[in-house]
Amino acid sequence: MSSILEQQIEYYRARAAEYDQWYLRQGRYDRGPDLNQRWFAQDREVLERLNAFEPGGSVLELACGTGIWTARLLPHARALVAVDTSPEVIAINRARLRSAKISYVEADVFSWTPELQFDTAFFGFWLSHVPPERFEAFWSLVRRALKPEGRFFFVDSRYEPTSTAKDQQLASRMATTLTRRLNDGREYQIYKIFYGAEALQHRLTQLGWDAEVNQTADYFLYGWGKPKRSGR
Ligand SMILES: C[S@@+](CC[C@H](N)C(=O)[O-])C[C@H]1O[C@@H](n2cnc3c(N)ncnc32)[C@H](O)[C@@H]1O
Repeated sequence: MSSILEQQIEYYRARAAEYDQWYLRQGRYDRGPDLNQRWFAQDREVLERLNAFEPGGSVLELACGTGIWTARLLPHARALVAVDTSPEVIAINRARLRSAKISYVEADVFSWTPELQFDTAFFGFWLSHVPPERFEAFWSLVRRALKPEGRFFFVDSRYEPTSTAKDQQLASRMATTLTRRLNDGREYQIYKIFYGAEALQHRLTQLGWDAEVNQTADYFLYGWGKPKRSGR
């Protein structure tokens, strides 16, 4: 049996072609018009915040996936480096965006070293998949990947049972792993950590970030920040 990190990689590789159904509230993720409408309204709220943040200049997108957020970053970016461990999602992302501004890197975020420093780092629905014991190392990577005045923005999941597929039970809020199922029934163990906005903002402040973390009514956690200036 593979380790949970390996299963997490395998899961997203195998899920590539059906990944967007989750975000588009289709198939097993269709929760009916009212909840779907709440989802899309809250997605718009995060998108408006991202647009106001202006994720410009050179942009790094970690765990870029099939390109839902790559498409949203692209109009702001001068150049975008999109990193993901799955060749399958990179192929979908590339075909969707067909942009000469994007360079794709097939790499494992936990061993990848940035060769450049970026103006903006973005990661969507990724922080919750970082094992708790790698949290600090992950934020050091974000720090190393950013120019001194660089900024990050992230979006992630809140603990909300109707976010996931109808045939999947959400584990307890305190669990750090859960079982995910594909449309064909195959199951994988993955990391999924649900952060509270206040506690996460506090943690990021302790790690040396000027950060603000917010949440929408039900579904999304999102935040942005930059390294604290030393001496403040
Ligand atoms: C929940 S998806 C998010 C995708 C995209 N950011 C979005 O919001 O649509 C997680 C992504 O992380 C990628 N991934 C999983 N493990 C990874 C790793 N160790 N290094 C880089 N990417 C990884 C998966 O292939 C998948 O595309």
